[in-house]
Amino acid sequence: MSTYTPRPLGPTLALAGSVGKRADVLVIGLTKSADGPELALADGTVDDSILSEILDGLTLVGATGAAEEITRVPAPGSLPVDSIVAVGLGAADALDAEQIRKSAGAAARSLKGGIGTAATTLSVLDLGAAAEGFALGSYVFHEYKSAKSAPGPDAGPVENVELLVSAPKDKEAKATLERSTAIAKAVATAREFVNTPPSHLFPAEFADRARALGSSAGLKVEVMDEKALEKGGYGGIVGVGKGSSRPPRLVRLSYASKKKGAPKVALVGKGITFDTGGISIKPAASMENMTSDMGGAAAVVATVVLAAELGLPVDVTATVPMAENMPSSTAQRPGDVLTQYGGTTVEVINTDAEGRLILADAIVRACEDEPDYLIDTATLTGAQMVALGNRTPGVMGTDEFRDRVATLSQQVGENGWAMPFPSELRADLDSKVADLANVTNQRWGGMLVAGIYLKEFVSQDVQWAHIDVAGPAYNTSGPWGYTGKGGTGVPVRTMITVIEDIAANG
Ligand code: BES
Ligand code: ZN
Ligand code: MN
Repeated sequence: MSTYTPRPLGPTLALAGSVGKRADVLVIGLTKSADGPELALADGTVDDSILSEILDGLTLVGATGAAEEITRVPAPGSLPVDSIVAVGLGAADALDAEQIRKSAGAAARSLKGGIGTAATTLSVLDLGAAAEGFALGSYVFHEYKSAKSAPGPDAGPVENVELLVSAPKDKEAKATLERSTAIAKAVATAREFVNTPPSHLFPAEFADRARALGSSAGLKVEVMDEKALEKGGYGGIVGVGKGSSRPPRLVRLSYASKKKGAPKVALVGKGITFDTGGISIKPAASMENMTSDMGGAAAVVATVVLAAELGLPVDVTATVPMAENMPSSTAQRPGDVLTQYGGTTVEVINTDAEGRLILADAIVRACEDEPDYLIDTATLTGAQMVALGNRTPGVMGTDEFRDRVATLSQQVGENGWAMPFPSELRADLDSKVADLANVTNQRWGGMLVAGIYLKEFVSQDVQWAHIDVAGPAYNTSGPWGYTGKGGTGVPVRTMITVIEDIAANG
């Protein structure tokens, strides 16, 4: 069994009433107006007499306040810091929490290089957003760089962040910071799983790490190995996993809240630790990105742990299938028929449509607990990216809950978008030899078809949302806002916000 203890995944965040003696830089926000940049500050956090000096200096070197623009200038002698980093917030009338989160993230990324402590006034605009943005923008992954190329401790991200607020002892401010710190840690945990290469993160190891995280958060943990899966009739997970020398797992993590009769939420996440496509093998170009094919699993593991840490009055169980999709003489073949958990038979026409096979088993298992709500998330289809691009998750499911999840996702800046299940697509999944085929023979609406496949396995009375994060879980282009290259941690913040909303409103 693993003794996995995660490394610290972000800076230490603390509330402060004024810039402390230890601070090296002060990060301030600048909005953009027709008359030039304007400082976005609340009264009192920085001495009024030096504000115009700071603004003049910034204007002189060309700062405009454009969103996420970074300008660094020497600090006036009366401030205890060496320099000021001004980060653009865009137009003041368009300023929202997500822009503050992104700007804080951009500022944090600019601080890489031996800065011990940064103070910021972005927190007077929105404490939670500033904290999350700073924490997430500071996340870097150098675990597999040796001393030869590792950036070294002096080039690392900022270590401490002082979030300036007018009343640092205020209970509400403390609670906000605690929640944001926990959320940022969960997002970073999901990123860390995604960024860990497939050589090092395979189903048994992933299960061990999930078990370790779950146990230390006080969750009930259950891990089924390949023998238990075979015996239990989990034909989808077994079928996908059998091409690999590294056998599959099914992990269940349960958080039981103290509240009697609390609503029940089931989470399910796709945990393909690497997707070669199997016998229906993928082209070589960009195949390395398939290290991200467990992004859904990473997010649900992080989210159930987070729900426990926040002590939410909701019972949450994550059911997480894990397998490696490999071609070999023991792999399943196109044309094979397997039996999903619960008895549905499936003709596996394309072994690269493996996500739905492992998810269907997990969804049926999750529904045995009779949850009120079920959220599944997966890097399920390339078609998600064709339809919505790299940053917009597709949300499907039962109408009302789907729309609720999409709305909340947009509120937290993860931007999920509701998508339909056109009824005519279902017949395309009919098979001549089994109950269902795992793919259709046409390529249109691929994201929706995958969702329609999953729908076959969701119990009637469960409110269900399926979130396809094929693009959004993994950033293959440059860093932006609080998102670096690699794992993004999407959709952890959507899911925890939905669970909090269920806690508040049922
Ligand atoms: N893991 C992939 C989907 C994917 C593609 C995620 C690109 C992230 C980036 C999934 O298992 C897959 O291969 N889906 C196929 C389905 C098809 C065979 C119906 C796809 O999208 O091509
Ligand atoms: Zn896949
Ligand atoms: Mn695939």
